[in-house]
Amino acid sequence: MRRSLLALTAVGVMTVGSLAACGGNDDKTGSGTTKEPKIGVILPDSKSSARWETADRKYLEAAFKAAGIKADIQNAQNDKAAFQTIADQMITNGATVLMIVNLDSGTGKAVIDKARQQGVATIDYDRLTLGGGAQYYVSFDNEAVGKLQGQGLVDCLTKKNVTKPVIAELNGSPTDNNATLFKNGYDSILKPKYDSGEYVKGPDESVPDWDNATGGTMFEQMLTRQKGKIDGVLAANDGLGNAAITILKKNKLNGKVPVTGQDATVQGLQNILAGDQCMTVYKAVKKEADNAAALAIALAKGEKKETGKTVKDPTTQKDVPAILLDPQAITFANVKDVVADGYVTKAELCTAEFAAKCAEAGIS
Ligand code: BGC
Repeated sequence: MRRSLLALTAVGVMTVGSLAACGGNDDKTGSGTTKEPKIGVILPDSKSSARWETADRKYLEAAFKAAGIKADIQNAQNDKAAFQTIADQMITNGATVLMIVNLDSGTGKAVIDKARQQGVATIDYDRLTLGGGAQYYVSFDNEAVGKLQGQGLVDCLTKKNVTKPVIAELNGSPTDNNATLFKNGYDSILKPKYDSGEYVKGPDESVPDWDNATGGTMFEQMLTRQKGKIDGVLAANDGLGNAAITILKKNKLNGKVPVTGQDATVQGLQNILAGDQCMTVYKAVKKEADNAAALAIALAKGEKKETGKTVKDPTTQKDVPAILLDPQAITFANVKDVVADGYVTKAELCTAEFAAKCAEAGIS
């Protein structure tokens, strides 16, 4: 008896939920919604890069708070099933907008499809969900990120006067469209050099889920197979860069072999200060979060915003309205820019171990 009553209540709640969601859907006319704006954000994990928890969450929270909009920001911790469950719960709890950083396009699309059916607006945040059809995409120009990495590695090798360097590529997750774009970017710089014989193409592998520990193992195997002959490492982000640096240190090769990165994490910047990492790419996540939050708030209020730009979803060939921000290359010479921008603080970067280097790099 008790059970069936509970079941009935649950059905009742679900009906109200979906009716309300339909109201949101009807509101595509922009006539103003009766539903209270509520934004659900799903971050991917907290290990593939420090950024998601230290930067994205913080800036998104601040943007929604400043606008007085309710938001629920959760992290799927690299669990695709949990990702779906979180999305379901957010929809049931009355989210009017879902903003996701997908773990792969397949599961991302499942979430977007469900949201659409329930009249919940969708935004792809940082990673495009291929075939997903989200209403907006907010990210950086990811091919430009890759080009900065490729050029950064070339500059470091030139400075070190390395001839015919063997390059190892430690790419991001094969299921992340960004990783593909980064690679397109850096290969556009490196491939002509491989083709002309100026550089030698070495191992080239993608790290599942951007997992840093796996990346370290993969790099160690690369170095063993190469009998130590790797002269430059194109690592797709700071986490993978640090994994490679750890192995280089074990082999007393750190500082000799330039390594790239991305995300301007405290660890990446410290590796640059130490001379073990040649560059990183700073992406002003605050701008990304602010832009995405502004779009989410507009959608939640039933408004439409023009982005002035689109990206083509290679799966559907459809144009997705997009905001793509500019990345910046960071070397020892301009680590101070990242501090000046407030992305990392001097206190977290310039610990006792790095104090002298910080002074040398003009970080005050
Ligand atoms: C992001 C990077 C991040 C990587 C791993 C990519 O999609 O654009 O900033 O380092 O995922 O989390």
